[in-house]
Amino acid sequence: MRTELIIEAPAKINLLLDVRGKRVDGYHELETVMHQIDLSDTLCLRPAKKFELSCDGAELPCDESNLALQAAHLMYKSYGLPGGLEIELTKRIPVGAGLAGGSSDAAAVIRGVDQLFELGLETADLCRLGERIGSDVPFCVLGGTALARGRGEVLQPLPAGPELSMVLIKPPFSLSTAAVFDAFDARQVQEWPRLNAFLSIWQPGEDVARVAGALCNVLESVSLALQPEIGELKQLCLEHGALGALMSGSGPTVFALYGSRAEAQEALAGLSEPGYETWLVHSWRTGEG
Ligand code: C5P
Repeated sequence: MRTELIIEAPAKINLLLDVRGKRVDGYHELETVMHQIDLSDTLCLRPAKKFELSCDGAELPCDESNLALQAAHLMYKSYGLPGGLEIELTKRIPVGAGLAGGSSDAAAVIRGVDQLFELGLETADLCRLGERIGSDVPFCVLGGTALARGRGEVLQPLPAGPELSMVLIKPPFSLSTAAVFDAFDARQVQEWPRLNAFLSIWQPGEDVARVAGALCNVLESVSLALQPEIGELKQLCLEHGALGALMSGSGPTVFALYGSRAEAQEALAGLSEPGYETWLVHSWRTGEG
C-alpha cells in the first residue's frame, strides 16, 4: 500500500448538451459531449485512522456534503478497506459553476483510492461507483472527451479532437443545477444541437472554427432567461474575436473558443471585467498538469 498520492482533478466543459426528456426517476435524459480542460483541483490522499477533509477554499464545505468525502466512504465501504483517508484539497475550480468541480474531486478520490490500495479495479467498475455520487462523476473517472447519455453515466469515449484554447469566464453568481433542470421547457429552446454533425467534425487537427460552429447547449434556454448577463457575456466574447462561445453545463460559466493559444491569451485582458473570474485554459491532455 502506498502512503501518499497526489492526484489532479480537471474541470469539464460541455461542448454540446441536449435534454431528450424527463425520466420517471426525476432525472433528465441527456445527450452531451463532455471535454476535460486544464483547470484542475489537486488532491493529496493519505490513508489514515479517520476520514478527514481539509480544503484551502473558504466557500467549500468540508463536511459529509462534500462529494470527495462521500467518494472516500463509498470506496472504503465497497472494498472493505481498513481505517480512513486524509484528503487535502487545493481548490481552483469554482463552485456552482457548471464545470463539475465537485464531481471531479470525487472521481479523483475514487481513482486515487484504487491506486493507493493497488486494487486494480476496472474503469467501468469505478464509473459505476461514481454514478452513486453524482451524474457527472462517471465521466470524470473516465476522463478525456466522451459522449454521455442516460443521466450522464452511459459513456462513449471520443477521440481526442483538436486542441482547444479558450477563455473561461465565471460571472459573480452561481446557479443550482437542480433548479435549472427543473425549469427546463423544450418549447423555450431556440436552437437544438446536431450531434451527428458534431461527431463528424470532432477529429484531431480539425479546424476549431468548425467545432465552434457546432457548439450548442439547450440549458441556455433556462439559464439565460434567469440570468441575462450570461447572454451578454457570450456576446462580449464574440466581440473579442471568439470563434464561438457557450455556457457550460447548467452554467453560469461561459467558455469562448479561440483559433490559437496566442489569440486566447490576447483576448483574456479584454474579457476581464470587475467581479468576473477569468482563466486561460486548454484541452486536458493525459499526463499534463
Ligand atoms: O446527479 P447530480 O446529483 O449531480 O444532479 C444534480 C441535480 O441535477 C439532480 O438532482 C437533478 O435535479 C438534476 N439532473 C437532472 N438530470 C440529469 C442530471 C442532473 O435532472 N441527467
